[in-house]
Parts: sequence; C-alpha cells; structure tokens
Amino acid sequence: MSNPARNAFSLEGKTILVTGASSGLGKQIAISCAERGARIVLTGRDSERLANTHRQLHGKGHIPMLGDLTEAEGRERLLQVSQKINGVVHCAGIQKHCPIRQLTEQGMTDMYAANFLAPLMLTQRLLQANAILPQGSIIFMLSTAAHIGTRGVGPYSAMKAGLVGIIKCLALEQAKHKVRVNGISPSAVVTPIWGADQLEAQKVRHPLGLGEARDVANAAVYLLSDASRWITGTSLVMDGGSIL
Ligand SMILES: NC(=O)c1ccc[n+]([C@@H]2O[C@H](COP(=O)([O-])OP(=O)(O)OC[C@H]3O[C@@H](n4cnc5c(N)ncnc54)[C@H](OP(=O)(O)O)[C@@H]3O)[C@@H](O)[C@H]2O)c1
Repeated sequence: MSNPARNAFSLEGKTILVTGASSGLGKQIAISCAERGARIVLTGRDSERLANTHRQLHGKGHIPMLGDLTEAEGRERLLQVSQKINGVVHCAGIQKHCPIRQLTEQGMTDMYAANFLAPLMLTQRLLQANAILPQGSIIFMLSTAAHIGTRGVGPYSAMKAGLVGIIKCLALEQAKHKVRVNGISPSAVVTPIWGADQLEAQKVRHPLGLGEARDVANAAVYLLSDASRWITGTSLVMDGGSIL
C-alpha cells in the first residue's frame, strides 16, 4: 500500500541533474538520488571518475556528460541532455587556500568562473530553455564560509556568499512556477577537496565530528523531494556544531 508520508521523500519518477558528480559530494548525491528512484544526468570533467559514479547508480537511464562548466560550450552540451528535469544540484566547485595579500587576478578569476559564474549561467540557460519543470528544485552547494569569516578563504567565501544573494532573488522570481531555490552550507565534509592533514586540523572544530558525504546527500534528497515543497530562498547550515 502506498504511504503518502514516505512518498513525500521519494524521488521516484524525477530526473535530477547533478554537477560535480565525478567526486565527493556530487558523487554521493547522485548515488543517493538514484537510490531514491531518480534518473540522474551526471556531469564532471574526468571521464574515468564520472564513469565510476555512473557504474554505482541504482536503476537505468542515467545520462553521463563530460564537460567543463566554466565554458559556455560545456554548459550548452549539458543543456541538450537536461530537458524536462525536476531538479539540479550544483556541486561542481573548487577550493584554494589564499590569503587576500597573496591573491592574483588569475586566481580570483578562476574562483569566480568555477564557483559563481558556472552554476549561475547554467541555471540561467536551464530556465531560459524551460528545462526545469514546475515544482522543481534548484540547489546550490554553498559552505559555512558563506556565513562566517575564516582566514585564507576570502575569494571562496565571497563567491559562496554571492550565491546566497542569487538564491533569495531567484526564489522569488521562480515562485510563480513553484520552483524552489535553496542552498546547502556544509562545514568540513570528508571528500577529495581536502588534504588529509587539513581534515585532521578540522576535527577539533566539530563537536559532532567531521561530516560525511552521505550527510549532505540526505539533505539534498530532502530539498529535491516534495517533502520540502514549502521551503525556498534559504540555506541549510550543516556544520556538526562547528559554528554555534
Ligand atoms: N567537502 C567539503 O568539506 C565542502 C564543504 C563546503 C562546501 N563544499 C562545496 O561542495 C562542492 C563539492 O565539493 P567536494 O568536496 O565534493 O569537492 P571535490 O571532491 O573536489 O569535487 C569537485 C567536483 O567539481 C567538479 N569540477 C570542478 N571544477 C569544474 C569545472 N570547471 N567544470 C566542471 N566540473 C568541475 C570536479 O570535476 P572533476 O573531478 O571531474 O574535474 C568534481 O566532480 C564545492 O562547491 C565545494 O565548495 C565542500
């Protein structure tokens, strides 16, 4: 017998686009969404790693697409295979430790292109092409760095904070289509974005311990599902108690 309460958290019949699906959070989000019944359009730059994620997806009909999302051409190719989707999770991103005194114009441009321009312009094209169905869900992967100051991550922090502004405005613009727009702001989660020594240093800041990719994936599943139909324009901080 169907259970309406459980069905609200299901992704059965939905198609979800996940960027950064070749590694870390995006990879686990793709796997967790497929476990919940979704068909996945998965994208990344590294063919071997993307194929590895593809092999781990439950179910059939998933579409892998290689591409650099800082390039308009990469975003266009992804758009061609992302028609009629129910959700997008923007996980592709880079992190570099860089105190402002050592910042170069090229370093800032790279940070902007990967962490701000790419997810924003991909969203713009998806909306322009009416690729996101009504009641859909758009998720930007932010960071606790969007909300607090941390030495050495100014450029990264600024791009994530910039997306907070986009989320609020876009949530209002898309409300008429009942498309929700939210962010997830994790603190330190064990993924390849961190060096082993960096993660060790982070442990002491987290009363609940470091996050696991599955913790973030569970939040993404919720924000993609109908269970979160009344939530928009917000950011879910997931920090194991680190910024209380
Ligand atoms: N892990 C954490 O503790 C943490 C905390 C807060 C926020 N975040 C955010 O979560 C997101 C994912 O991080 P992660 O930990 O999963 O990192 P990760 O394991 O290094 O994965 C990054 C992903 O982004 C993709 N990517 C990078 N630049 C790209 C580009 N130009 N075009 C297309 N794809 C690109 C990579 O693709 P390829 O590998 O195929 O090149 C990879 O799939 C990032 O936005 C990060 O800022 C992470």
